[in-house]
Amino acid sequence: MTNNSSFKALKITDRVYWVGAIDWDVRDFHGYTTNHGTTYNAFLITGEKNILIDTVKKQFCSEMVGRISSVIPIESIDVIISNHAEMDHSGCLPEIIKAVNPETVYASAFGVKTLNDHFHLDTPITAVKDGETMTIGDATITFAETRMLHWPDSMMSYLHGDEVLFSNDAFGMHLASSERFADEIEPSILAYEAKSYYANILLPFSHLIKKAIDKVNGLNVSIKYICCDHGPMWRNADVATPIKNYINWSEQKRNKNVVVLYDTMWNSTAMMAEAIVDGLISGGVSAKVMPLRSFHRSDVATEILDAGALLVGSPTLNNGLYPTLADTLTYLKGLKPKGLKGAVFGSFGWSGEATTILTGILTEMGVDLIAEPLKVKYVPDAAALTLCREFGIKVAEAVSGNE
Ligand code: FEO
Repeated sequence: MTNNSSFKALKITDRVYWVGAIDWDVRDFHGYTTNHGTTYNAFLITGEKNILIDTVKKQFCSEMVGRISSVIPIESIDVIISNHAEMDHSGCLPEIIKAVNPETVYASAFGVKTLNDHFHLDTPITAVKDGETMTIGDATITFAETRMLHWPDSMMSYLHGDEVLFSNDAFGMHLASSERFADEIEPSILAYEAKSYYANILLPFSHLIKKAIDKVNGLNVSIKYICCDHGPMWRNADVATPIKNYINWSEQKRNKNVVVLYDTMWNSTAMMAEAIVDGLISGGVSAKVMPLRSFHRSDVATEILDAGALLVGSPTLNNGLYPTLADTLTYLKGLKPKGLKGAVFGSFGWSGEATTILTGILTEMGVDLIAEPLKVKYVPDAAALTLCREFGIKVAEAVSGNE
């Protein structure tokens, strides 16, 4: 197998190494726009048995092999643990198994099925039990299933002694950087990317987050490192940060910000949005204005994680929505946000279905509609813009009680 020897491992503890890959270039992650790339983190535990935890996306196999080979010959890997079967962590698994011929490959019970469904492997995969503690050489590892965070097969592995939690996707972020630890990265970048990752990947599973964190706490172990599978790792006192964030985000507490999401054809819906925003500001709340020519659906997802309300505007095009709105709302609906207030608006020429369609989508999403749909024919005049402003003030009143 290809070994790019220009890559080196990074030592985390006396026996644990980061051997992953940095993807500076990826901009789409199943619909989530990753503006700053990502990393696929894999880890090597050395000792009486050498253990590889997760692999990387298939295209990055030679980078991972290069990093492993800077510590031990690749053939010296004895055991592989696959915490998650999604291809960004398992894509390289068949090649590694072939090159290494490991004694055992471990995964969760769902992981065994999923890996086989992906790769149709000849090598058997061994299922570990939820909560099982296993001695592998001189390493003691406990496994904790975290089903649906975010796939049925997802699990975490904890290395006793070194106090390392290999948390798989959880607590990660999509951020390619030269630094490997969160404490080396500018805090505002870290905060935004961590929030964006939660909103775009974990939001639909918020009801399971507390259970997963209780499970980690239930291990009754101290955690010195959280080695997640994307972006920087957390160490020392910083390990509390992602856990605290996940508890907060899973509660979906709402603030006074109002997201104004729209697109426009001949600028009429944009004029409406501007007047609505003026009303929101007059009403004492902040507006996050997101015209879809400038913002991607992932940016919107990040904002609605804690926004007080979502206002959506679309012109009517061919008896339907403007396409960018259809795209973004399909994505947002899948993320299943809870506790959102909202309202819709839009311009039209002669049929004007867009606001009715928007109302239907927001209703299906469980959004609490706090104002009647606002429609304007062709181009808003002064009276219509006054109505838009009043619409904004009304929405501001509805969220002004939020913290
Ligand atoms: Fe990073 Fe669910 O894969």
